[in-house]
Amino acid sequence: MNMYHIPYKEIISLTKRVHQKQIKIQRHLHRYPEISFNEFKNTSYLKKEIKKIGLKILPIKMETGVVAELRGTTKGPTVAVRTDIDALPVTEKTNLKYKSKIDGCMHACGHDMHMATVLGAAMILKEMQSQLKGTIRFIFQPAEEMPPGGARPMIAGGVLKNVSAIFGLHVDPHLATGKISLRDGVTMASVNDFDLIIHGKGGHAARPNTAVDALVTACEVVESIQKVISREIDPITPAAVSFGTINGGVARNVIADQVVLKGTARSLSKKATRDLPRLIKRTANAVCKGRGARLEMNILADYPVLYNHAKINRLFSENYLALFGKGKIEETPLVLGGEDFACYLEKIPGAMFRLGVMNKKIKADKPWHSSQFIADEKALIYGTALLASAAFDFLTNGIK
Ligand code: NI
Repeated sequence: MNMYHIPYKEIISLTKRVHQKQIKIQRHLHRYPEISFNEFKNTSYLKKEIKKIGLKILPIKMETGVVAELRGTTKGPTVAVRTDIDALPVTEKTNLKYKSKIDGCMHACGHDMHMATVLGAAMILKEMQSQLKGTIRFIFQPAEEMPPGGARPMIAGGVLKNVSAIFGLHVDPHLATGKISLRDGVTMASVNDFDLIIHGKGGHAARPNTAVDALVTACEVVESIQKVISREIDPITPAAVSFGTINGGVARNVIADQVVLKGTARSLSKKATRDLPRLIKRTANAVCKGRGARLEMNILADYPVLYNHAKINRLFSENYLALFGKGKIEETPLVLGGEDFACYLEKIPGAMFRLGVMNKKIKADKPWHSSQFIADEKALIYGTALLASAAFDFLTNGIK
């Protein structure tokens, strides 16, 4: 096969040229974060920046988020680049000069970095438009952090139409700036977020025999569901069920008539993903029935296992090595964290790389979702050059 060369030097010099502009964008987004599905101001801001770059904005059915396209002068395949755009309900406790100005809201997962990286790549690719052999579709997806997530409605709206592959990234505060990490195949867990509502019958605390205690029943439900993992899921399959909240009752001497449990089930296998909601429901139902209570179960999110395609990872690693040299690529550790980027990868080939943003000198080493989370802005250089280069390579040479 005849391989065309990628203009790495040009990409690096363009990356340096857009860097200051990108930092301005990233800081603006960091100052004005917005919660999942409420990214209205950021959507307008992104549209303004996208128009400045000269991309075409495509119509979407969602109220927040943006999809834009850049067409090369030669016809060819379409590759998509996705960023999430939402922030978290966390009060920022850093000393950054571009700290969040919105009380109780913070980019504590680095999605501001993702947006700035993707916009930077768009600026570079726009400069190279005459050399592009196909189309790049930029997806600015709302609500990664909150079930049911923004990926599924984006896909339902046709965002993957004619797309041959999709690229994604996530910053990693445990990986040094200058490095990326990749992992082939299963990389992140499936997610089933669910609510269990236990309906009992209220009464006086002194006369439990006349009531159906939703609180005692809920405790049994929590206990029993731990056995779903230990007794019913293949022990060689990593899986977890955790309850984050338990709420019910009104007073010390009143038996609770209702308790709400909020839980999440994670796993790394398709079979466990399929089985977990059913087993949780069956177990909770049986416990409730045994106590004379009634169960209601609502599933709020169901993301598949995140599966990275090896060929796209190879495209990333080849381009990264060519851009920045050896010793900069690590293997992404396997985790039970979830990510709705998995929904795109269920439909078409693609991969998500991790972008190192750790720099202890500036205290950029706190975990994701921490109120002290900081991402090293220098990492924008690495992520931006890689996205631009990989997109250019995909359109030029396809998947090798
Ligand atoms: Ni995130």
